[in-house]
Amino acid sequence: MGQGVGFGKVILFNEHFVVYGIPAIASAIGAKTTATVERSAGSGVELKDARPESPGYKAEKLGQQKESFDILLKFMNIDTQHNHYNITLEGDLLAASGVGASAASCAAIARAFSQELHLNFSDERVNEVAYEGEKGYHGTPSGIDNTAATYGGLIWYRRDGSAQLMERMRLRKPVEIVMGNTGKVADTKIVVAGVRERKEREPEKYERLFQNADQLARNARKQLEDFNLEKVGAYMNENHRLLQEIGVSSPELDALVKLARDTGAVGAKLTGTGRGGYMVALTPGRELQDRVAKEIDRHGSQTLRTVIGI
Ligand code: MEV
Repeated sequence: MGQGVGFGKVILFNEHFVVYGIPAIASAIGAKTTATVERSAGSGVELKDARPESPGYKAEKLGQQKESFDILLKFMNIDTQHNHYNITLEGDLLAASGVGASAASCAAIARAFSQELHLNFSDERVNEVAYEGEKGYHGTPSGIDNTAATYGGLIWYRRDGSAQLMERMRLRKPVEIVMGNTGKVADTKIVVAGVRERKEREPEKYERLFQNADQLARNARKQLEDFNLEKVGAYMNENHRLLQEIGVSSPELDALVKLARDTGAVGAKLTGTGRGGYMVALTPGRELQDRVAKEIDRHGSQTLRTVIGI
């Protein structure tokens, strides 16, 4: 039996912009997906998806999950003609939009196969496999989700042509965040394609927005490393505004972002694909985290209390 893990993630700055080579910042969150692979006689693959889920997520992603699986198995050269594989997905990461659920499952599966078949995958290889698997969900992934899912920690990420460039960042100490779930499942392929379409229609406006996003990430990195959380929060608010301008927010996300800010969060923004899924609020200290999470809970949205910078 082989086992592997993939980390859940939160994008703190520049989802979507990152697809076009703009730098982004992401952090692992304290939740993971684990995969178990068991080989037996026979042929074919059977998947048991026992991850906890946001209602409707698994059913909606089933087609893409199947596509991703086929890509993963082919890329790893897994022989399913002369072997039967039982794959089980579990762990405490919710299968939901915005927390890197698909990437975490791809990284976990790569590691589980590596262990079961003694393939000795390095983290780099796991990341490559997870990137291929992500194509089933994203079409043209930037690579940030698989990188965060593979390596964990806090990362500065930039895509340069086909190169995926990652630098580790360090925080003086972990910082509390609250993630609020709109409960809506988002389709990354469709939302990313929408940005591309609008960008082609209004190149000048998008050029300006992309330049702002580039500068914002650089400023935010400095403030994060200096542990100036008020400024980081202000940059998150500004990032949310840019994401609204490129059309990836939604009324539900905007409402949760406003609620978090009104309750004292130092900053809040949508995270991940947008148009549904999760938002993230920066809430340093357990007391503030508790207050913001309770308010979002009261609003009827599921919350995740965790930390960045572990
Ligand atoms: C999704 O988690 C992040 C996006 O930027 C897509 C990508 O980077 O591939 C929306």
